[in-house]
Amino acid sequence: MKFFLDSADLEEIKEINSYGLLDGVTTNPTLIKRAVEKYGKIDLEAYIKKILKICRSKPVSLEIIGMSYGEIIKEARHLYKKFNSVAKNVIIKVPINVSENKRRGDSFQAIKAIQELSKEGIPINCTLIFTPEQAILSAKAGAFYASPYIGRVDDYLKEKNLLQDFGVKSGINAINKISEIFRREKVKTEILAASIRNRQHVREAFLNGAHIVTLPFKVFKEMLEHPKTFEGIKIFKRDTVLEYRKLFD
Ligand code: E4P
Repeated sequence: MKFFLDSADLEEIKEINSYGLLDGVTTNPTLIKRAVEKYGKIDLEAYIKKILKICRSKPVSLEIIGMSYGEIIKEARHLYKKFNSVAKNVIIKVPINVSENKRRGDSFQAIKAIQELSKEGIPINCTLIFTPEQAILSAKAGAFYASPYIGRVDDYLKEKNLLQDFGVKSGINAINKISEIFRREKVKTEILAASIRNRQHVREAFLNGAHIVTLPFKVFKEMLEHPKTFEGIKIFKRDTVLEYRKLFD
């Protein structure tokens, strides 16, 4: 059972790591933007190197931004070369499809690049997965991780007022189907459940076959909380008699 932190925030990464809970980190352009906004003018290259050093042997996903096969290959090699030497823990994150819609762009650009980069030995976290079919193709291309987006699948169903989308009833249901297929087909690609919004997502992702869950800092905290735990602490504090307290002297 592995937990990744879904964040590019150095303080959060340090904190979760200090609790011994960190197995890896996932970043994306939005998370990097949040870190830049929080810390102001930063030397991003040095900042990312700090993250990699803190994580040491734990994998850190860094995402490409290119929109074509050529750009993805160039950026992935560039990122890997620049950063993997720091702590040997870089995973390159590539979306399953870099087209903006059905008409704009070629749907096969990213999958072709994932295959090429995986063959070269660059580990790929294939991201923006919403269907089992996308996960199957990411595995077929040799991705190291397949990242289905639980929260965003649920958002999509809600926005469109759908009971299901391509036969998927929820983000967790997608994990379940992907896990069943990967198990039957003895697929090596690991399922990295992403877009986690709450503690139930974490539990259900593992129950439905995710190998890893990447979660925001606030969900780590939420996982430790219950009103009855807080209440219990107050009761224990109230009931601690002097004789008991003296045992600790
Ligand atoms: C992780 O790899 C993803 O980038 C992330 O989980 C997306 O989460 P969001 O849907 O909350 O933005």
